[in-house]
Amino acid sequence: MFPIAYCTYALIYGKINLIIINQEVRSMLRIGMLTSGGDCQALNAAMRGVVKTLLNNRDDVEVYGFLEGYKGLIYGNFRMLTGKDFSGILTVGGTILGTSRTPFKTIQDPDENGLDKVDAMKQNYHKLQLNCLVILGGNGTHKTANLLRKEGLNIVTLPKTIDNDLWGTDMTFGFQSAVNIATDAIDCIHTTAASHGRVFIVEVMGHKVGWLTLNAGMAGGADIILLPEIPYDIDKVVDKIEERDKNGSRFTIIAVAEGAISKKAAKMSKKEYKEKMKNYPYPSVSYEVADQIQKKTGREVRVTVPGHMQRGGSPCPYDRVFASRLGSEAGDLILKGEYGFMVGYKNREIVKVPLEDVAGKLKMIDPDASIIKEAKLLGICFGD
Ligand code: F6P
Repeated sequence: MFPIAYCTYALIYGKINLIIINQEVRSMLRIGMLTSGGDCQALNAAMRGVVKTLLNNRDDVEVYGFLEGYKGLIYGNFRMLTGKDFSGILTVGGTILGTSRTPFKTIQDPDENGLDKVDAMKQNYHKLQLNCLVILGGNGTHKTANLLRKEGLNIVTLPKTIDNDLWGTDMTFGFQSAVNIATDAIDCIHTTAASHGRVFIVEVMGHKVGWLTLNAGMAGGADIILLPEIPYDIDKVVDKIEERDKNGSRFTIIAVAEGAISKKAAKMSKKEYKEKMKNYPYPSVSYEVADQIQKKTGREVRVTVPGHMQRGGSPCPYDRVFASRLGSEAGDLILKGEYGFMVGYKNREIVKVPLEDVAGKLKMIDPDASIIKEAKLLGICFGD
């Protein structure tokens, strides 16, 4: 007797002769894999962790790598991968699969040719008779992953992002590597700022959350740290610079998150804020802060933006180990047939978190968190 699911599949696709093939294929473990959203360090290390775990424990595994994120799954653009593809990539930044941003808010809209993208993803998954799809991504990626889970696909995800803003995990891979790079940038700025006696702003990535800025700022000895979660008052920032002047410090280092926001702007309605941004004369908030400091103090202010460097290059040792562990645990879930989870990290343990708990939530810094209190005790000003 053929299992009912196979007969149904065969009837739907009108290919009764596939039943025999299905019987053979069914014994295989077939997994799809994709990386979506902004890249980061250790994506390759994480994928390697998954595949090594599977190949070390089963000899009948097929791996399909979808190219450029969800786009590959939508348009059936994939490559069959073997163990060799995962050899030598532990230390390599970027992603061997390529990535792209496929916004969740339009995922349910048809594409420019009328294609139903969600349906196309499901069809490609079923055509390849995948047992599971492994998705590596951040916030937006997890919303789509959860949608696919609700549509009946077997999904396991891994938390990537330099922003460390995914709900359900204390840490994402990529974060520590980015902290290292942003800290290096602040370290370099320190020496030149001290020589010239200037105020220096280093703009750190993170539009919605400030984990990277907070950690790199503290590690780099920043005097002022401005975060999206703690709206700043420019006069408090100026006070801190003047206090340092009075104490004989000739320079000030300010770490500013891309999404730092003034108290005034934070109080605006969405409409008012949109209006402000329409005529915004600065490339980013750091330049606005620099301009205001210059006008209020007459001090020389410089802005440095390390930008996408923070996402690039080789993963740091911590991320190599961390991503390998997450990948290995994801492989283990697949071997056990447990789906619908993100593999995360909580209280120093690797854990599985239901996807529905992760999707659509941001992990932001609590302004009352102990790390903020400690930073303040150290004399760091948050402009609040
Ligand atoms: O992936 C996260 C992130 O690096 C954010 O820190 C940053 O704000 C954003 O992506 C930049 O996006 P893009 O690469 O699309 O310019």
